[in-house]
Amino acid sequence: MQMQLLISKEAIKRRVRELASQIASDHSGRELVLVGILKGAVFFFSDLARELGVPARIDFVRAASYGSLSTSSGTVTLIKDIELSVENRSVVLVEDIVDTGLTLACIVEELKKKNPLSLKVCVLVDKLERRKVEIPVDYCGFRIESGFVVGYGLDYDEQYRNLSEIYALQGDFPT
Ligand code: IMP
Ligand code: MG
Repeated sequence: MQMQLLISKEAIKRRVRELASQIASDHSGRELVLVGILKGAVFFFSDLARELGVPARIDFVRAASYGSLSTSSGTVTLIKDIELSVENRSVVLVEDIVDTGLTLACIVEELKKKNPLSLKVCVLVDKLERRKVEIPVDYCGFRIESGFVVGYGLDYDEQYRNLSEIYALQGDFPT
């Protein structure tokens, strides 16, 4: 298994700054709650939150999906819910990557039940090839067609999350 550098630290930093300023200006005057999806979004989330430059509350959800090493099964359950109230507040849901869309679709559904004023989706990587359900991605860091990426929170079998850059896994690896 080999890894090839796909997105540098500098490119990530630039893009996070752009997304943060877009999110801040789209939500001016609103009470903002940033909701991160554990664990993959942690580094993206914390960089994005600090670049916002406007007040925001933060909270987290964790979803479990019983899939294989590199794909989710579609059976998604929330094993940790948010703790803050989002009623009359604007939520931006922050995820590492959207692939089939099943994980985000489930979490969006759950959060909508809590009557937020608005709900937007922000993903670091939008992977297009395997999409099964339409999911509106309001803020997207990077688009890739296919492949499997790791680093900056993204894992393969819980490895590589703490790399500062994003790499494509290459060669033969169990999926
Ligand atoms: P979805 O439910 O198929 O959209 O998959 C979303 C989840 O699958 C993400 O939160 C990741 O945990 C995982 N995933 C999908 N593609 C990748 C990838 O290329 N790298 C790392 N994790 C991935
Ligand atoms: Mg994962």
